[in-house]
Amino acid sequence: MIEFTHRVWTVVVTILVIATTIFAWRRYRWPNKVTAFSTLTFVLLLCQVILGMVTVDTRTLPIAVTSHLAVATLVFASALTTAIVAIGSRGIRNT
Ligand code: HEM
Repeated sequence: MIEFTHRVWTVVVTILVIATTIFAWRRYRWPNKVTAFSTLTFVLLLCQVILGMVTVDTRTLPIAVTSHLAVATLVFASALTTAIVAIGSRGIRNT
């Protein structure tokens, strides 16, 4: 049940991160802080998924589990920063 919930949330988070990144590139373009942080979140999410697979393949080897949790924290921090920067630059483009 926990594994299933984790899988469902993984899909939901991935869809939301991809949607945010596409939106940021269309709305704010480059160079822009919102685009930079949303793209960083997307790249970190890819690392997170790979680490999730490593966690399963190594049968929850401590270093893999710890790395997976550490990157999850970075994904959260990066997504939060994207939101803060987006709220801070509402109505302003290409800054
Ligand atoms: C953005 C957040 C996260 C993503 C995208 C993600 C993604 C994944 C993926 C793709 C897998 C391998 C496939 C699977 O069995 O479901 C996995 C496995 C795992 N993840 Fe995550 N994960 C995230 C956050 C977390 C967090 C916060 C924790 C712990 C507090 C965690 C703990 C685990 C564990 C223990 C496994 C191994 C499951 C098993 O042995 O079946 N994950 N994760």
